[in-house]
Amino acid sequence: MALAPGPLWEREELRAVAGETLRPGGFELTDRAADYIGLVPGRRVLDIGAGLGATVTRLRSRYGAMAWGVEPSAAQLERADGPQGLIRARGDRLPFRAGTFDALFCECVLSLFEDRPGGLAEFYRVLKPGGFLVLSDLCATGPSLGGGASCADRAAPLDRTVRLVRNGGFAIELLEDHSAHLRDLAARLAWTAEGVSCGCGRGLSYFLMIAQKQGA
Ligand SMILES: C[S@@+](CC[C@H](N)C(=O)[O-])C[C@H]1O[C@@H](n2cnc3c(N)ncnc32)[C@H](O)[C@@H]1O
Repeated sequence: MALAPGPLWEREELRAVAGETLRPGGFELTDRAADYIGLVPGRRVLDIGAGLGATVTRLRSRYGAMAWGVEPSAAQLERADGPQGLIRARGDRLPFRAGTFDALFCECVLSLFEDRPGGLAEFYRVLKPGGFLVLSDLCATGPSLGGGASCADRAAPLDRTVRLVRNGGFAIELLEDHSAHLRDLAARLAWTAEGVSCGCGRGLSYFLMIAQKQGA
C-alpha cells in the first residue's frame, strides 16, 4: 500500500518551487513587514511555525535582529539542517516569558492552529507592550472549504481573522491583499509538479496583516 504524502509544506515539490520560504510571497512579504515595523539590529523577534528557518536567517542577516523560531515538526527541523535559533515547540504553547519579544512573525501558520484564540492569547503574552504581530496567511473567500488538515482546508474568512486579532488585544495597522503571490505559487507548482496543488483554485486569497499589541 502506498503511503499518503505528507502535508504540502513537508514535500520537496514545494521546496523546489518556493525555495526555503514555504509559502506565497517569500521574502518579499517578510521584508515588507520588517521594513514597515522599522526592525533594527538587536530587536528580539520570534518566528512562529518557522519551517526551515528561512525567516529567522533573513531577520538575523539582513536586519541584525535577535531572531529565533519555533517549529513543532521534527521532520521540518531535520530538513532545516543548518539555521541557528530554531526550537521545537508549538506556536500556541510558547516556552518564553511574558513580554520577551518586540515582534512576532507568523507566516502561513495561523490557519493550522487548532485553537486560534488560544494562540492569539499566547502571542499577546510573549510580546512587549506595543510589540508587533506580523501575520500572513490564506483566507477563504467563499463558503467553508471543509475540515481537512491542509492550510487551504483550514483557511478562515478574513473578517473572522480580523475579529480574532482585535479581540486578542491588538490594533490592526496594515492589512493588504497579496493573492497575486498565491496565484503565482499555484501556477509554478502546477507547472513543475503535476498533481501537487496549494488549493488556489478553491476560493482562497492571501493577506499580510500587521497588528500592534495594545495595553500593558
Ligand atoms: C506553510 S508552512 C510555513 C513555514 C514557514 N513559516 C515559512 O514561511 O516558510 C507551515 C508551518 O507551520 C508549522 N505548524 C503547524 N502547526 C503549528 C503550530 N500549532 N504551531 C507552530 N507551527 C505549526 C508546520 O510544521 C509548518 O512548518
